[in-house]
Amino acid sequence: MATLRYAHVSHEYGAPAGTGRGAARHSGEGAARTAPSLALSDVDLSIADGESVALIGPSGCGKSTMLLMAAGLLRPTSGEVLVDGAPQAGPRRQTSLILQNLGLLPWKTVRDNVELGLRLRKVGAHERRERCDRALEGVGLAGMGSKYPAELSGGMRQRVALARSLALDCDLLLMDEPLSALDELLREQIQDMLLDLWVRRGHTQVIVTHSIEEGVFLGRRIVVMTPSPGRVFRTFDNPGVGTDGWRASRGFFELARRVRESLAQARGERDIPAGDVTGNGAADGDPAGGSAVGEGADGRATGGCEARGRAKEAEDGSTHR
Ligand SMILES: Nc1ncnc2c1ncn2[C@@H]1O[C@H](COP(=O)(O)OP(=O)(O)OP(=O)(O)O)[C@@H](O)[C@H]1O
Ligand SMILES: [Mg+2]
Repeated sequence: MATLRYAHVSHEYGAPAGTGRGAARHSGEGAARTAPSLALSDVDLSIADGESVALIGPSGCGKSTMLLMAAGLLRPTSGEVLVDGAPQAGPRRQTSLILQNLGLLPWKTVRDNVELGLRLRKVGAHERRERCDRALEGVGLAGMGSKYPAELSGGMRQRVALARSLALDCDLLLMDEPLSALDELLREQIQDMLLDLWVRRGHTQVIVTHSIEEGVFLGRRIVVMTPSPGRVFRTFDNPGVGTDGWRASRGFFELARRVRESLAQARGERDIPAGDVTGNGAADGDPAGGSAVGEGADGRATGGCEARGRAKEAEDGSTHR
């Protein structure tokens, strides 16, 4: 299993190579020729083993940059990113990243795309096939293995990318807006599937999303970022995640409202229009429990949840995995 820590991480794209501790490994084409651009500023965040964190923030605040670093594809200009206490010097076998642009190989079939990671890990043909079939079934694409990405809709391609990650037995799953191309109904189904997988498998996951409701549904903790250069503005503890009826509960809507308000504050827009409150509006009390910057963001072991314990008991002997 995996812990993930951003220890005072800053990143400047286009910083001259060799400056600071972290020359960028993948700084992007032409990055060294463009004016330096500070993407992240002193991000300090600890993610416990088995925790699910939703990362929300304005476009360009550095969310993808944070995932690239966690995947060992980009090194910070200063600070350190540690997985299980080890600084990330390159890609790690048990980390799986679903990129914003999916990264599917157009000349390979769906099956070959899904099996790619397993092949690289030298998993035998029989097991590859089984894991691929199960993953495709899990995302509603059973029987589509012989298609090519170009023959699929955008949403289906997104599900293939998800299946590829699910087929790997990863302990750290990083997802960059994995469901953004899906229609609302399918999106909720796959959110249910992601939650179910997290509860059963107990992996650590970070999901970047622009959907507040998605964050509140999937994140045991929700991290709100400031606009560029991104830093952690506020974190919200979300103990209700994974509990029965959470999506339709008063606590869910109240937390979504608080996260929305926090995002607006992070943007410097303190006046929230009354109509901008999600769902059934404000509830009394403070079931969601937000925490200010720094509080709860540092080394807190909030991994797992009560729901997981219950689900694990209920799911023993499950055929899912
Ligand atoms: N390869 C690169 N070279 C130079 N600047 C980059 C590069 N990649 C990202 N940036 C800049 O770094 C900042 C953070 O980018 P990043 O892609 O991490 O943001 P993001 O939060 O994922 O945005 P979005 O929500 O739109 O996906 C942005 O200002 C972006 O322009
Ligand atoms: Mg991004």
